[in-house]
Amino acid sequence: MKKTIALILSAALLLTGCASGTGNDKSAAENTSSAAAADESKEEFVFPSKTADLPRLKDVYADDFYIGSAVAGYQVSDPDYINLITEQFNSMTCENEMKPDALLDKETTLSDIEKYREAPAVKFDSCIDQLEFAKAHDIKMRGHTLVWYSQTPDWLFYKDYDTSGELADRDLMLKRMENYIKSVFEWADSEYPGLFYAWDVVNEAAADGQSAKRDCLWLQTIGDDYIEKAFEYARKYQPEGVKLYYNDYNAFNFTKQMVIIDFLRPVAEAGNIDGVGLQSHIGTWCDPSSYGEAVRRYNKELGVEISITELDISKDNTDEWEKNQGEYAQRFMEQILALKSEGIPIASFTIWGLTDAVSWKKQEMPLFFSLSFNAKPSFYGLIAAKAPELAEKAS
Ligand code: GLA
Repeated sequence: MKKTIALILSAALLLTGCASGTGNDKSAAENTSSAAAADESKEEFVFPSKTADLPRLKDVYADDFYIGSAVAGYQVSDPDYINLITEQFNSMTCENEMKPDALLDKETTLSDIEKYREAPAVKFDSCIDQLEFAKAHDIKMRGHTLVWYSQTPDWLFYKDYDTSGELADRDLMLKRMENYIKSVFEWADSEYPGLFYAWDVVNEAAADGQSAKRDCLWLQTIGDDYIEKAFEYARKYQPEGVKLYYNDYNAFNFTKQMVIIDFLRPVAEAGNIDGVGLQSHIGTWCDPSSYGEAVRRYNKELGVEISITELDISKDNTDEWEKNQGEYAQRFMEQILALKSEGIPIASFTIWGLTDAVSWKKQEMPLFFSLSFNAKPSFYGLIAAKAPELAEKAS
């Protein structure tokens, strides 16, 4: 992997670096250090960074919390993304590459159903590049995600792994759940000890618009306590230094929050949860002070730390959307800092993607860098909440 990055960086330099290089010598020199640090051979690689002169979120918030981004597999071998990630972030989440549909190995499982009946086979080739990259650049990982209704193949829930047959019963699904969590944690701990600081154990278990858990195959096969069991197994096998999280969207919505607190209470009482992740796919409509109330309530009711795990801020429909988004980003971050200074443990602040071009909501331009890697007012808003002098100087 290191070799691959080195080759790509060298090739990219030949193709584009020299041509565009003259005005960018300072950026190129600065960037060289982070790319070279990744290579044990200490060869010099120079790739001009479009973003090198910006203030750096991870430095501005070094004393507060991890600053992270969701990253897709291909981005860790693309020089522009590499520059942006290594300059700005000290935490990463795989966008898709550690979800159950990426890690469950259907072919091997089906090759010997008896052998794998209680413990489906897993494979990790989908995420290796990202994990190697994170390790090489001293970036910590949030693991995402173990038990989820979505991006989890249906065959997992069937007795013979055959969707035209019978669903597995509770005992069998409990074994599969336990073994899946065990396999993922054991692999991560043996291959990348100390790299992960948090895992989303259960994602999005609350239903929308109702006071209930979401109906899903985990609920149908295991029953009402599947969330408690997932956290029980996660606690049993958790690698040292890893915090166990429940993660959801609209988790600040009052009705949804009541449902979440209700189903997490027994998990907290059993001592099996460490954190609640508020995904935070929001827009300027989301009132930072009610968001703050929700954070306080999770902390108080469940005794957990909090992370902002998937922030994006959709544009509004005005001509001033970029400015509004920037002002909102600042207010939002100020709210998070206020919570932190009240003593609420905020462990990490992750944005869901690197530029508007690669956001899952790209029509809504919800991220902090533009299509062409320019820092948006929303980026400066995040900086200004803590270091207004840096935001002013740079903009
Ligand atoms: C949810 C999931 C993420 C991702 C987004 C959309 O928030 O937790 O993993 O799938 O939806 O990209």
